[in-house]
Amino acid sequence: MVIAIDGPAGTGKSTIAKMIAEGLSAGDGKPFTYINSGNLYRAITLGCIRGGIPVRDGEAALAYAKNAALDYKNGRVCLDGEDVEDLLHSSSVDSFVSALSAIVPIRHLVNDLVRRIAKGLNAVVEGRDMTTVVFPSAEFRFYLDASSEERARRRHEQKLSSLSLEEIRAAIEERDTIDRNKKEGSLRIAEGVIYLDTSYLTLNQVYARLIERIRE
Ligand code: DC
Repeated sequence: MVIAIDGPAGTGKSTIAKMIAEGLSAGDGKPFTYINSGNLYRAITLGCIRGGIPVRDGEAALAYAKNAALDYKNGRVCLDGEDVEDLLHSSSVDSFVSALSAIVPIRHLVNDLVRRIAKGLNAVVEGRDMTTVVFPSAEFRFYLDASSEERARRRHEQKLSSLSLEEIRAAIEERDTIDRNKKEGSLRIAEGVIYLDTSYLTLNQVYARLIERIRE
């Protein structure tokens, strides 16, 4: 079974997807694997930065991505055998990942990898195009949303950035625009998805609503 979750940055998607995979794995059945597709784009970006490959050079970035050994082990991303999970949210990766994820052949490569990892498994997959492009026929498809004000407030509260609340909000809105205008795999609310605005909900409330729909 595949449970696909999409939505813009800052809606709590990753935390919720992980909670769902853990919650459903706690039963007697086959465990659920959690796959964060954004982290695969982030790992390729990290490799490009390390190799001095400018991500704006689509051909060079693709050549790198084709040769990189990218995998998921115990829910953590490995690049050429190294666990890079904790290196994926640096400000340098943050600043280049949007451009990298707009390169169409790299999207195809990541999509194939996500499908390959999920094959034959129970999986909770999350990103921007899991419900539309990668798993349009998933058993469950959710779209998590929240206002840009609320997403900025949540990021600001995490105190991971030196930016002001207003600057964080502007950065979020800029990323939304990029994500919604990609040539392929752009962020959109697909027909038939279960839509949830999380602006006024806690993580536990969001989790409870999704798990209830799945267990129904
Ligand atoms: O979810 P995230 O913010 O860690 O994603 C990192 C970047 O990758 C972000 O710019 C959106 C992009 N992305 C994408 O284009 N498609 C996906 N399925 C997942 C992420």
